[in-house]
Amino acid sequence: MNTVSNHLLLSAAAKVRLNAYAPYSGFRVGAAVLTDDGTVITGCNVENASYGLAICAERNAIGRAIAMGYARFDTIAVVAEPLATPCGACRQFIVEFGKEIRVICADANQLDEVREWTIAELIPESFDGSKLPRQ
Ligand code: THU
Repeated sequence: MNTVSNHLLLSAAAKVRLNAYAPYSGFRVGAAVLTDDGTVITGCNVENASYGLAICAERNAIGRAIAMGYARFDTIAVVAEPLATPCGACRQFIVEFGKEIRVICADANQLDEVREWTIAELIPESFDGSKLPRQ
């Protein structure tokens, strides 16, 4: 059961969003991952002069969590202004770690107006890595 509230998680995402490096799009995004032991790990988007290299906030947060030794996630919160749902690449990245992960999204100025899904709802029929051949 979640001990960390939606609001706390969205607040963490809103805070890290302010650190986003987004000089090209001007669109700042913050994400906060809640691990199964209640730890909150954040990430923001990081853009580049070579536009295609931009890293989304969601993948940054999950990458940081993995680097810290976490791989079981309960929820990922995403805050932007206006509200944004995870892009397709991020959906596939999130579902790698479980179809039941909750995704909650809010506008940075309205953290109490939350939209919520499971990641499986956002990416039905996602690519299933268990089908890959092993060497
Ligand atoms: N972006 C995210 O960080 N997460 C999303 O789910 C959608 C898009 C970023 C990527 C880029 O830096 C900017 O928003 C505009 O696309």
